[in-house]
Amino acid sequence: LAIRREDYVAPAWWIDTVDLTFDLDPAKTRVLNRMRLRRNPDSVGGPLRLDGDELNLARVLVDGQGASFRMEADQLVIDNLPDSFELEIFTTCCPVKNTKLMGLFVSENTFFTQCEAEGFRRITYFLDRPDVMASYTVTLRADKAAYPVLLSNGNLVDSGELPEGRHFAKWVDPFRKPSYLFALVAGKLVAREQRITTRAGKEHLLQVYVRAGDLDKTEHAMNSLVHSILWDETRFGLPLDLDRFMIVATSDFNMGAMENKGLNIFNTKYVLANQATATDADYGNIESVVGHEYFHNWSGDRVTCRDWFQLSLKEGLTVFRDQEFSMDLCADASARAVKRIEDVRVLRTAQFPEDAGPMAHPVRPDSYIEISNFYTVTIYEKGAEVVRMMQTLVGRKGFEHGMSLYFKRHDGQAVTCDDFAQAIADANLDSELSRLLPQFKRWYSQAGTPRLAATGSYDADARTYTLRFTQSCAPTPGQPLKLPFVIPVNLGLLAQDGRELPLQRDGESEATLHTRTLVLTEASQQFTFVGIDAEPVPSILRGFSAPVVLDFDYTDTQLLTLLANDLDPFNRWEAGQRLALRSAIQAIAASSAPTAVLDDAYIGAMREVLRDPKLDAAFKELVLTLPSETYIAEQLDVVDPQRIHAVREAMRVQLATALFVEWEQVYEQHHDTGAYTPDPLSAGRRALSGMALTFLCLAAGESGDTVWPGKTLQRFKDAGNMTDRFNALSALVSSGHALAAQALARFHAIFKNEALVIDKWFSLQAGSPDRGGHVLPLVKQLMKHPDFSVKNPNRARSVIFSYCSANPGAFHRPDAAGYVFWSDRVIELDAINPQVAARLARGLDRWSKLAEPYRSAAREAIVRVAARPDLSKDTQEVVQRALAD
Ligand code: ARG
Ligand code: ZN
Repeated sequence: LAIRREDYVAPAWWIDTVDLTFDLDPAKTRVLNRMRLRRNPDSVGGPLRLDGDELNLARVLVDGQGASFRMEADQLVIDNLPDSFELEIFTTCCPVKNTKLMGLFVSENTFFTQCEAEGFRRITYFLDRPDVMASYTVTLRADKAAYPVLLSNGNLVDSGELPEGRHFAKWVDPFRKPSYLFALVAGKLVAREQRITTRAGKEHLLQVYVRAGDLDKTEHAMNSLVHSILWDETRFGLPLDLDRFMIVATSDFNMGAMENKGLNIFNTKYVLANQATATDADYGNIESVVGHEYFHNWSGDRVTCRDWFQLSLKEGLTVFRDQEFSMDLCADASARAVKRIEDVRVLRTAQFPEDAGPMAHPVRPDSYIEISNFYTVTIYEKGAEVVRMMQTLVGRKGFEHGMSLYFKRHDGQAVTCDDFAQAIADANLDSELSRLLPQFKRWYSQAGTPRLAATGSYDADARTYTLRFTQSCAPTPGQPLKLPFVIPVNLGLLAQDGRELPLQRDGESEATLHTRTLVLTEASQQFTFVGIDAEPVPSILRGFSAPVVLDFDYTDTQLLTLLANDLDPFNRWEAGQRLALRSAIQAIAASSAPTAVLDDAYIGAMREVLRDPKLDAAFKELVLTLPSETYIAEQLDVVDPQRIHAVREAMRVQLATALFVEWEQVYEQHHDTGAYTPDPLSAGRRALSGMALTFLCLAAGESGDTVWPGKTLQRFKDAGNMTDRFNALSALVSSGHALAAQALARFHAIFKNEALVIDKWFSLQAGSPDRGGHVLPLVKQLMKHPDFSVKNPNRARSVIFSYCSANPGAFHRPDAAGYVFWSDRVIELDAINPQVAARLARGLDRWSKLAEPYRSAAREAIVRVAARPDLSKDTQEVVQRALAD
C-alpha cells in the first residue's frame, strides 16, 4: 500500500503531446484526449499503464484503430504497443458531483480544476506523474451564456462560435509540463487587467479573474503580482516567460492556491481584499501567496520534481523565495525582523510539533500512502529553513549564483533535491556547504527537530569565554538513531551592560564585530573566544539561523539584558519569550491556582518595551504576545490543556491589569493610523492598538469598569477598515463582555454578503476563550446557521478547525465531548472531501502526550474514526499513524 522512494523507476513511456477537447457540462463533461506516445528506451519496458479515477471510459483507439485493453484496479493497461503511436481516449466525468475538489469540479456555476498532486487522472487517463512532461493543446467548448470565459494554460490561439449557443476557445501552452500543472477555468468571470513591460523589455498581459461583484477587491492581488514579477527578475534574474499570466479566484478550494502554468488558481481568501473586508493579515497573506505561486513559475514549473518525494524541491524553495520577497518589500530592518519572527513562530508552533509527533517525516520523505497528506509544514516551512541555511552557508551572492546554475543546468527537467543542493554547492566550491554537502543533506533525510544544548564558561585569568555545544535528535517513526547535522549558528556576545563585543576566536589574528556564523558538525563541539574582560551574555542562533531547539541555561538577568539590548531583534524577542515561558512552566507545575505568574522584573521589562520610542509598534506587539498554548504544550512531557489554558489566561489578565496605564497610552498614541494602507508600519500600529483594546477590555472584565468596553464598541462601529473593526470585535468577544452579542449581530448584518468576512465571524466565535464549556454548544449551533455549509472548505475550516485545532482550552474538555465532536466531523467530512478530513484528523496528532483523562478519551476518539469502514486512504493514513504512536 505504501509508495516508497527507493522504488522509483523511470516511466516505460513518454507522452510528447496532448491534445484535449472538453465539452463542458456540469453533469456530464466529455473529454477527448489524443496523445503521442513513445517508448522510453532507457526504461525496463512493459505495458502502458495509465492512471484514472472516477472516470467513465467510452473509447480507446491506438493509431485510429480500436485497441484491446484491460483494467487493473484504477489503471487502464494496454499491451503489445508499437514504439511510437497515437492514443485516443474518450471519457466522461461528473464535475458537479465532485465534492473532493480534485480534478474538474464546479464552484458557483464555474468550472475549475485542481490537479496537484494526482487530480489529472480524474480528468482523463494519463501517466499522472511529474516526470512525464508533455506539450498541451486544449480546446474548451461550452454554452456561451453560462460560460462566457474559457481559460487554459498558455496562449489563446483561436476562439469562436458554435451551433446551439455554444462557443469554443483553443489554448496552446508553449512550455512542456507535467500533468499536475494542467488547468482550465470556465464560467462567468470578470478580470482586472494590467500590461507591464519587464526589465528585459517584453510586454505582458496580467489578469486577475473574479466574480462580477468582486472586482473592487483585486487591486492588491494585482499589485502583489507586479511586485513579484519585478522582484524575481531583480533578485534572481528570472523573468516572466509568458505573454499572458492569469490568476483566477474560487471560493471552493482545498488549499491556498495552485501554480498551474500561466493560469494560477487561488482560494478567494488569498486574492480578494479591500480595506472594508480584509485585515492587514489578509493583505500580507495575499502578497505572500501571490508571490509564492508566481515564483513557482520557475521553481516548480520550469524545473519540476522527478517524483513526489521531492516535493520540497519546489515547495521548500518557493516558500523561501516568498519569505525573502516579503522581507525585501519591507522598508527597514525592523519590519524584516518582524516578518522573520512571524515565520519562525509558524515553524515552532506547527512544524516542531509535527516533527515530534506520529506524522514526523523528513523534508524528503521515504514513503507515503497518500501524497496529499505530505503537503505539510515540514515539506514547506522546514524545507524553506533548509534552503535558508544553504544561503547562510554560501552567502546571499553565493546563493544567487547557485540559483543561476540550478536553472541553467535543469531548465525543462524534472529533478531531485540532490540536484538542487549540488547546484548551490557547485556554484560555491570554496564554501562550507560544498565542503560539508553529504552531511548537510541529512537535513533532507533525517526527521525530527535537533536539540542544541549550549553551555558557556568564562575564564577570568585567560580572559577567554568558551561555548560548548552538544547536539542530539530524538527518535522519530522509523528512525531510531540520528547522525549529527550541519548547524549554522549565528552568534553574538554582549557585555553585561548590553554592549556588543568583538568576536575573536582562539588562534585568529583579527576580531569580527558583532555576529559571526559558527558551523557545527559534531555531536559535541566547543569554541573559545579571546580578549573578553568579563563574563559575557551569549546571543546564540541570531535570526534563528537553524531550525533547532536551543537550550541554554540563561539567568533571568541575562535574558533581561538580551531583551533590552540585543542588536539582533529576533533574539531580543526570543529573550522575552523565554522569560514568559519559564514563568508559565513553573506555574503549570505548581499545585496552586495560578496568580501572579509573571514576576515584577518581567512586567517592568514589558513596560519598558511599550514605552520605548525607538521600537516599532509591530515589534512591540510581538514581544507582548505570550507564547501560544500549543507552543507551551510542546515544552512539556505531559500536557494538561486546561491547566495550560488557565495559566496563560492568568498571565494575560496580569499583563492587562499591571500595564493598564500603558495600554491606555498605547491606544491613544496608535489608534489613529490615518488613511488606510496595508504597509507594515501602519499595520503594526493597528496591531498594537488592537492588542491594547483586548487588554483594556480584559482588565475591565476584572474590575467591572464599563468605559473601555463602551469605547471598544464605538470603535467597532466607527472603524474605517476591517482590521480596526475586527480587532475591536475580537476584544469584546475574547473578554466575554456582554456587549459582544450586539457587535456580533451587527457585524453579521453588515457583511452577510461577503463570504470571507462571514468566515471570520464564524471563526472568531468558534475560537473564543471557553467560559464554563460554552464554546462546544455554540459551535454546534453555528453549524445549524443558514450560512454554514460543511461542503465549502473555507466555511468548514472557519467553524470546525477553529474549534478543534485552534482552541485547545475549549476543545480538550474533561467530559471528552470535544473529541466526540471531532470524530463525528472527521467521519462526516471524509465522505465529502478526504483532503479536508485528513487535515482535521491531524488535530489529535499529539494525543499520547495528554494527561488523563484526556489521553484515553482522545485515543478512543481516534479508534472510533479508524474503525469506520470505507475510510479514505488520506484519513486512514493519518489515524493509523496516530495510533501507532
Ligand atoms: N502547489 C500548491 C502550492 O503550494 C499546493 C497544492 C496542494 N495540492 C494538494 N492536493 N495538496 O502552492
Ligand atoms: Zn507551493
